[in-house]
Amino acid sequence: MNSLRMILTAAALSAVAAPVLADEVTYREDITPLFENHCAACHGAQSPYVGEFDEDKDRYVEMNQGPRMDSYADLIMFVVYPDTGALMRRLDDGSNHPEGKPGNMYEYLGEDASERERNHATFKAWVGGADAWNLERWNDVTKEQLDALVLTY
Ligand code: HEC
Repeated sequence: MNSLRMILTAAALSAVAAPVLADEVTYREDITPLFENHCAACHGAQSPYVGEFDEDKDRYVEMNQGPRMDSYADLIMFVVYPDTGALMRRLDDGSNHPEGKPGNMYEYLGEDASERERNHATFKAWVGGADAWNLERWNDVTKEQLDALVLTY
């Protein structure tokens, strides 16, 4: 009886986790192609380093350019530090917002709703899943939330 319950519980857990597992998602295999297709036009090699972007933000926004994020090191600045949680705030699907409003980069995740959902799930899994996907800034983020980050290269 006990072992049956364990098997059923394990099966239920793996069914829930099945779509995208954090330890299967890597920057090189999963995030890079997604980034190339959906983000690089405005966050690629032509874009300013975030320090430059911040100094002249209005001009860059007018040019439709955001800060550069086209390497692992550049991207995780928007997850961990100094721009803690920025990637999650911008790509959130709205489930963390009181009115269900998605982050303003969510629309770029795909052409249609199902592609956006899929790519959102990939980013979320890469970050470390539901425990790591939090929208806090540096001053509010907890050690537990930081510990949950996976971000496999
Ligand atoms: C059409 C251009 C465009 C595309 C495509 C685009 N972005 Fe952006 N992004 C911007 C601009 C411009 C800003 C700065 C203005 C703002 O903060 O909204 C920005 C801001 C951001 C920020 C906040 C940066 C900060 O300083 O905190 C993040 C994170 C981000 N984008 C991630 C992404 C990701 C990930 C993708 C791909 C799924 C993406 N963006 C696609 C134009 C774009």
